[in-house]
Amino acid sequence: MRTDTRADRRATRALVERRRAEASALLSTDAARAALALHGTPLLLLDPEQVRRQYRRLRNALPFVRFHYAVKALAHDAVIAALDDAGSGFDVATGDELELLTRRGIDVARIIHTHPVKKPSEIEAALSAGVRTFVVDNDVELAKFAGAPGDVGLLVRLAYRSPHAKSDLSSKFGVGPFEAARLVEQAKRQGTRIAGFSFHVGSQLDDPARFAAAVSETLALMVDLERRLRVRFDTLDIGGGFPVSYDAPSATIEEVAARLRPILEPHVGRLDIIAEPGRVMVAEAMTLVTSVVGVAERGDGRWYYLDDGVYGSYSNVVAEDVHPLVYAEKELREGPSGIATHRWATLGGPTCDSTDVIARETLLPELAVGDLLVSPAMGAYTAVTATRFNGRALTPIAVMGRGLATGEVTAVGASDPRAVSIV
Ligand SMILES: Cc1ncc(COP(=O)(O)O)c(C=O)c1O
Repeated sequence: MRTDTRADRRATRALVERRRAEASALLSTDAARAALALHGTPLLLLDPEQVRRQYRRLRNALPFVRFHYAVKALAHDAVIAALDDAGSGFDVATGDELELLTRRGIDVARIIHTHPVKKPSEIEAALSAGVRTFVVDNDVELAKFAGAPGDVGLLVRLAYRSPHAKSDLSSKFGVGPFEAARLVEQAKRQGTRIAGFSFHVGSQLDDPARFAAAVSETLALMVDLERRLRVRFDTLDIGGGFPVSYDAPSATIEEVAARLRPILEPHVGRLDIIAEPGRVMVAEAMTLVTSVVGVAERGDGRWYYLDDGVYGSYSNVVAEDVHPLVYAEKELREGPSGIATHRWATLGGPTCDSTDVIARETLLPELAVGDLLVSPAMGAYTAVTATRFNGRALTPIAVMGRGLATGEVTAVGASDPRAVSIV
């Protein structure tokens, strides 16, 4: 957890300026212009090269960890293709995600299934597809694997409370050390192999020390259980949770890795160390462009109504309490100082619901109907959690070609299932 020091405020200003420069560079490419001319707004611009870059950063920071992209963060074909080419593994939560991967020809040996509670039919389908790593955290789930092939290895999901994470997953899944020991004993009696343990420190957790503590505690538990129960584990799954800098800087991949490396390194070789990052792989790869569809003066000041909102791509605002940055396109073109008047405004989404508010007290230049707005870092848990409330179409995703300057655009419309692969 960071406190709001003067250095933090300086870092936040630097982040806002960096994101502004990136958004400005993106919008000035031929590819982005062509996609906007073709589709109008709202439009999500996806750059798979950014996904590859994040995978490379993770690999460089923790070279002994095998990364399995958590498909749930953005189940898009272009993301899967980019990560497949880069050599990444994949983590699925459902049979539908598994199907998406197998349809694309992803080698099942690189797929793990980490939802702690699964339909029996999904387990059967995953087993017959060849998936061999699954997660359990209770007796009923463990019993579903009785009689499974001998090369199946289960991971017991542990719970670590993370009240500072945007999404503390420990309240829904995971067990403590006592229950974990009991499940390992039960699996032994059942003849099912427990390969090791997994946990998720909580999504968007800006606390590398908490992450490191969870790794240490899990390793200590594994050593203790191996000794007491005369078992051998071969896998440690450190989950997801790497944070992303939205409206304020958060710990970088390299900072988190620096805390984890000394704890993990002594176990390399003895254990297969795997991870399931989602958000950090894709958040920065997608940018949302919306336009103003209405302007009103209300009791609390100026309102701009946009053509995407919290029931659409801005679903992360409500579901995750994420605060995406919003820039006016004219400000990106002319620079903030080139615009005479800025004013505080509320940004409303397009539906009739009064909770459909994207941001309050946003400082923006004077805008009119048709003006464009841009939100960076809109790749994770946005398109996949969007709804069709009020009958609105899902926002199309335009895939930008390699090297954005080439102008190559693979535009994917909302009617194309690849645009919204699993939503
Ligand atoms: C089991 C599991 N693995 C991985 C992830 C991805 O986490 P993140 O996006 O925080 O990296 C999640 C997110 O909810 C999850 O539930």
